[in-house]
Amino acid sequence: MRLVLVGPPGAGKGTQAQFLASHYSIPHISTGDIMRANIKASTPLGLEVKAYMERGELVSDSVTNEMVRNRLNEADASHGFLLDGFPRNVGQAEVLRAILSEKKTPLDAVLELSIKTSEIVARLSGRRICRNCGKAWHVDFEPTQADGTCDACQGELYQREDDKEEVITRRLQVFEEQTAPIISFYRTEGLLITINASGSVSEITERAITALSRIH
Ligand code: AP5
Repeated sequence: MRLVLVGPPGAGKGTQAQFLASHYSIPHISTGDIMRANIKASTPLGLEVKAYMERGELVSDSVTNEMVRNRLNEADASHGFLLDGFPRNVGQAEVLRAILSEKKTPLDAVLELSIKTSEIVARLSGRRICRNCGKAWHVDFEPTQADGTCDACQGELYQREDDKEEVITRRLQVFEEQTAPIISFYRTEGLLITINASGSVSEITERAITALSRIH
């Protein structure tokens, strides 16, 4: 399965990606996670992307495309992958099509998670991430037993810089202006599958697997 997950910030891409990647036994490739790992390790790439991410702006296509090209060349991606957060504009979608066409391994599907803006804001503003294992929790929808501590590994929880209210507004704007056009791009390519991303995490996973089962 070669799959792209698309949807606005907070639609639940990262949450669903964990279950889908495990269901299809494919690697979950999140450009946001790779960038955050580089920031944490203070690599040159991390230093370059930090300010863009904190402002909710897209990182440049040249940096992002190169990062994805390298990641798709790794051995674990040779039998499929789930891309989360890439592509994020039509230029990136065209680069991805070219990379996969060179390898003769086109995408199987693009799964769009569709959700109302009011739900997005509630999901993002209450999200907390574990500094140690990276798992996302939510203060209301998926609370941990002890405030500020990850149930999975006892790591410390933090709020992403870009989950502050003023940055959420900018990220939503960037999604509408730059990312939403890829939805028509993939509809035209005949790859788009849209599911409703409201409801419980397990309901949405089931919807996704049912929708994806129709393509194979
Ligand atoms: P990225 O890390 O990709 O963030 P995003 O797309 O904004 O998506 P999020 O991680 O915020 O949300 P999500 O949809 O994964 O939701 P989640 O599952 O966590 O990108 C961040 C930045 O990196 C960008 O702004 C940009 O600067 C840069 N970047 C990344 N890729 C790039 C690219 N290709 N080009 C250029 N720049 C790039 O869920 C959110 C919350 O909701 C969680 O707390 C979760 O517990 C909760 N939740 C999830 N599902 C449910 C449910 N069903 N019910 C209730 N709560 C739920």
